[in-house]
Amino acid sequence: MFVHITGTGSYLPKRVVTNAELAEKLDTTDEWIFTHTGIRSRHIAADDETTSAMAVQAARQAIQSAGLTPDQIGLIVVATSTSDYHSFPSTACLVQEAIGAKNAAAFDLQAACTGFIYALEAARGMMQVNPCPTLVIGADMMSRIIDWTDRNSCILFGDAAGAVVLEASDVPGGIWHSILKADGSGAMLIYREGGSRDLATGPWLQHTLQMNGRAVFNFAVKVFDEILCGLLKRSGYTFGDLACVLPHQANARIVEAVARRMKVPMTTFYMNMETTGNTSAASIPLALDAAIRTNAIKDDDLIAMVGFGAGLTYAGILMRWRGLAGKPKSEVCPSATCAGKTVTEK
Ligand code: UT7
Repeated sequence: MFVHITGTGSYLPKRVVTNAELAEKLDTTDEWIFTHTGIRSRHIAADDETTSAMAVQAARQAIQSAGLTPDQIGLIVVATSTSDYHSFPSTACLVQEAIGAKNAAAFDLQAACTGFIYALEAARGMMQVNPCPTLVIGADMMSRIIDWTDRNSCILFGDAAGAVVLEASDVPGGIWHSILKADGSGAMLIYREGGSRDLATGPWLQHTLQMNGRAVFNFAVKVFDEILCGLLKRSGYTFGDLACVLPHQANARIVEAVARRMKVPMTTFYMNMETTGNTSAASIPLALDAAIRTNAIKDDDLIAMVGFGAGLTYAGILMRWRGLAGKPKSEVCPSATCAGKTVTEK
């Protein structure tokens, strides 16, 4: 059984905030932000928008582009660090209700900016047991949790959602190799208080993201190389075989440093962060959707996705892109009835 991405979708809030606008309130400049990050502007959600609302928009597009209806979805996994509610209900349950995916199980997964790749792999693993069409979403509203007076961090982030539909199929290709890693020794390099640890110090407060930017930058360059080379080594391919690498769009300088270190051309890395900023768990599916819509990825391309972020977490996936050609030719999954299917013991 092969697991293919057969549909993609994305959502960016309407409001665009430029570097110049940030420089009106912060001790920074458009030139500093662009030269240090590659970002010129980002999208920021309206006060009445939520992470689930962004996820719903991306999900609807992904389901439509896969040629499915919401009732055919058997599982929804949402990777997010900025769920609508502190603990529960999960954002995935809110999405399930809003799109009418009445046959779907739903849960959230938190691996910060690496969340989408972790979610893809969690979903792919679950599909081995129950091969239903599965919706995987990366959605984050970082604007709600950053300190807008901290020039070291607030200039980086934007809000967005990206979604894919996974389908189990007998068509060779799809997601092939993966590497998922974590290094909790770096947990305090990016963190946000406001959890059970607060019981020791006082009431639950609206804490903001704290980040040691330079240390995270150095970590990202090191592990990016490790993941990408690891994926290529396992599969027997070389960098030249890749049509496209979709990096987590944290800082364009990280990707440039990786390209220099690996002595490979920047042109293979798909970058769209100039106008989106770092959208955390949404960044890779957002870039994927843009790459598909602009034909930067075509059927039969070998592509890699590489993510890194708080935790510290880092991960990558290697896949043979088939798009709609990866849809099941035989009835691998009995679609709408799949979610509740009974497996009989032999
Ligand atoms: O999604 C995963 C999570 N996050 C990341 O991947 C972030 C990774 N890190 C980064 O992207 C970069 O480290 C930053 C963009 C956060 C910072 O850029 P940098 O080139 O690493 O700057 P730095 O932290 O080494 O700071 C250099 C100087 C400092 O001033 P002093 O101490 O040398 O006087 C900072 O205060 O740049 C200053 N600085 C700024 N100056 C103007 C930091 N932010 C700004 C700013 N405008 N926005």
